[in-house]
Amino acid sequence: MEKINSLTGMLDLISSKSDQNEFANKIFSTEESLRVIFENFSLCEIRTPALENTNLFKRSVGDTSDIVNKELYTFLDKNEKSISLRPEGTASVIRSVVEKKLDGQLHKLWYLGPMWRYERPQKGRFRQFNQAGVEILGYEEGVAEFDLVSLICSINKELKIHEPILKINHLGDKDAKKEYCKALTDFLKPMENDLDEKDQERLKKNPLRILDSKNEEIKKILVNAPSISDFLPSSSIDLLTKLKKTFSDDCNIQIDYNLVRGLDYYTGLVFEAISSDLGAQDAYLGGGRYDSLCKNLGGKDLPAIGMAIGIERLTLISNYKHKNKTSISFIIISGNEEPKAYKIAHDLRALNKQINIDVQLSYASLKSKLRKANKNNASYAVIIGDEELTSNTAILKSLKEKDSEQSILKIDELKKFILNLE
Ligand code: HAM
Repeated sequence: MEKINSLTGMLDLISSKSDQNEFANKIFSTEESLRVIFENFSLCEIRTPALENTNLFKRSVGDTSDIVNKELYTFLDKNEKSISLRPEGTASVIRSVVEKKLDGQLHKLWYLGPMWRYERPQKGRFRQFNQAGVEILGYEEGVAEFDLVSLICSINKELKIHEPILKINHLGDKDAKKEYCKALTDFLKPMENDLDEKDQERLKKNPLRILDSKNEEIKKILVNAPSISDFLPSSSIDLLTKLKKTFSDDCNIQIDYNLVRGLDYYTGLVFEAISSDLGAQDAYLGGGRYDSLCKNLGGKDLPAIGMAIGIERLTLISNYKHKNKTSISFIIISGNEEPKAYKIAHDLRALNKQINIDVQLSYASLKSKLRKANKNNASYAVIIGDEELTSNTAILKSLKEKDSEQSILKIDELKKFILNLE
């Protein structure tokens, strides 16, 4: 029969006990570290469905954005209704808060899960990827910004990111944004024919996005373009300066007045964390303030700010070494009374949840089971054969110390030993 392979840009992640450098192992330990940090910041978890009404993303991320225009996985369900796999988490969080009538309250939320974008796969860019996101809802500008940047600094530190840079910018208030868009359009209009098709479209619908152009010719044109810094109210510049100053010991924060984001809902502070270790796809985290989104999705006026991290990208640049739990390889060499040995393993597991007990299920020889225990980085082997079962004992062998003697312990002594393991 012909084999069926996974779709392009979609990864299988299979963890392994033997190779701690395995990408899947690192991904899962990145996720675990993030969960601990989110708890430390007293955030609450939210889970929303992977599928949403397509209009949700059109009205939030924006129907001129690449994400909605080109990258959505969209199809008709059996009722001919257009649904899409979520390309990001913010829109769903706000949809959910509005739907549950929770949009009059304060929230500090986090989520973690797969997102889908039909992009050209390359290093750090997938069609199904995982994001961990944080959304802080109900807090006006000037408070939540500091908590969010503090969280980003903590993630960089905990996951040992090599030379991270946090770029920040501010899109100003409504008036400033409008005036700047007009000035940018006036500047670019005479050069419209030099712009590529994509940027000509952006010039009509969302000129700010041209600042994000990857086209070298357009980058040259933009050198002389008006800067948003000339249009920002002093409160915006003040916020950028204070954020940079407050966290200067922990984080390399750079104010970048050309920074814009690929999603339409941003209104105030915007930011992206980059690392040169990533190559072309250098942003491993992005976010900003989006005070109008809740109202645009039919809810109340709810100030909001958030960010999302690409788990695969963060893992690629993390130098964090996950501390493995102590692991015991449980080896049964008994022809007759095997179930009794399984019951001993069962009782031992219940004694200490901080350690792992791997009962080797194969009928291989003792020698090959010990080899497997070593390969899987077990610290100890517990060996039980017919003789041990008769005398209510077990053999305990340390696998980490070279030439260590093995000892025979009564099962009660073994229980005490396991209870005290860390
Ligand atoms: P975003 O910048 O589109 O923002 O995505 C956040 C992060 O997801 C990126 O920095 C990147 O690490 C990762 N990412 C995006 N696309 C891919 C891909 N194709 N493959 C691998 N990783 C990828 C958002 O999604 C906003 N919802 C962030 C936000 C939350 N803003 C406010 N709240």
